[in-house]
Amino acid sequence: MERRLELFPDTAQIVAGDDGRTALTIGGCNLAALAAAYGTPLYLFDEATLDARVQAYRDALAAHYPAEAAITLAGKALLLKASAQWAARRGLWLDCTGAGELAIAAAADFPGERLLVHGVNKSDEDLHASLESAAVIVVDNLTELQRLLAMATAGDTPLPALWLRVRPGVAVDTHAFRQTGQSDSKFGMDPSEVRSALALCSAAGQTVEGVHFHQGSHFHNVQPIAPGLETVLKLIAQIHAETGWAPQVLSPGGGWGVPYHEDDLPHPSIEDYVRFVAEALVAGCAARALPLPRLQLEPGRSIVAQAGVALYRVGAIKQSGARRWLLLDGGLADNPRPALYSARYSALPVLEPTRAAVGAASLAGPYCESGDVLIHDLPLPAIAEGELLAVPVSGAYHLNMASNYNGARRPAVLWLRSGHAQLVQRRETVDDLLRRDMGLDA
Ligand SMILES: Cc1ncc(COP(=O)(O)O)c(C=O)c1O
Repeated sequence: MERRLELFPDTAQIVAGDDGRTALTIGGCNLAALAAAYGTPLYLFDEATLDARVQAYRDALAAHYPAEAAITLAGKALLLKASAQWAARRGLWLDCTGAGELAIAAAADFPGERLLVHGVNKSDEDLHASLESAAVIVVDNLTELQRLLAMATAGDTPLPALWLRVRPGVAVDTHAFRQTGQSDSKFGMDPSEVRSALALCSAAGQTVEGVHFHQGSHFHNVQPIAPGLETVLKLIAQIHAETGWAPQVLSPGGGWGVPYHEDDLPHPSIEDYVRFVAEALVAGCAARALPLPRLQLEPGRSIVAQAGVALYRVGAIKQSGARRWLLLDGGLADNPRPALYSARYSALPVLEPTRAAVGAASLAGPYCESGDVLIHDLPLPAIAEGELLAVPVSGAYHLNMASNYNGARRPAVLWLRSGHAQLVQRRETVDDLLRRDMGLDA
């Protein structure tokens, strides 16, 4: 319980309140006041924490990789106009999955030359939007490549830089739903398909600038990166020997994990991960006399997760058999991760409870699913009905996966910086729910 504050944004503090109760603050902002002004559930992002995670990546790359390097923020973890604007100002690249995310990036004036487009079955709309934004397209399969080459011929326009996504046949150790690198994964091309893709591009006069692979998401053990990288470098070395081609950019994707619960602490650092990848790449290229490519990392969660906090209000407290339920005003609809991956979370009361600790409570949302449980059996002080709870590490894969289940209106989002909270996404309304629902003709 004492370590729980470490899960919150770097600026989180417990301060003495006016009424004698201590209060949790983030970025110098009073959370109870924000909840009163904007309602709950409410999502908060602390810019200082986002900046610190980016700086950790930059410092680690500068210390351990002797050639050019870049960081792509994985938009799938979090994509709002505000986060895209922030990423643009910080000089990051941004990865978008398809036309919808590209539209958000465009609305944020994100520079096209730092956009990447991923997608396992990109629609024509996705491909056209990618070409319009001049983004780098990460080609997932041969059919997609043929469609792209045909589009270039039909439109008589050259394609922008292409990267090829390789399936290395090795996944990282994580939940099965987050593994992507294994040999039977739906993502990317196997080595023989990569060779075919290069041959197709060469015949069409199309440059291939990069090679990409991503072995999975939310891993804590870096070791499986080594055989994945070795497979990719071996393939590149063979092709280099045969054709002289080598990629200018190599991206081992993202996926570095974060601690979600105090039991996950201490957690290995961003530097531990970057050092391992950089050293493996330097050694692998040296062993094969390959030039060092630009190393382009693609983290999402490890940059945005800890910067985000979800605030909920306890509506009712219920004792069901041996279990004490705190029934919250949000859950599955704004955070499907516990239901999807059995993800474990922690929480702290926003204001110091007035009574002594009573032990474990489970935190459930208001939705009609027994799986709508954010946290099982968490040691907590005696929380009263009407109190606020703050759930840390809520910045990644919450809002981007949020739904309107049971008519839920997605939460408002505040951006905290320099002691000030800005509303960057308003709460959805009933009008938003009805806007595209056309109904039957008479
Ligand atoms: C291709 C690709 N890149 C990057 C990421 C980001 O992963 P994470 O947010 O775990 O860093 C993902 C996540 O699944 C991904 O599929």
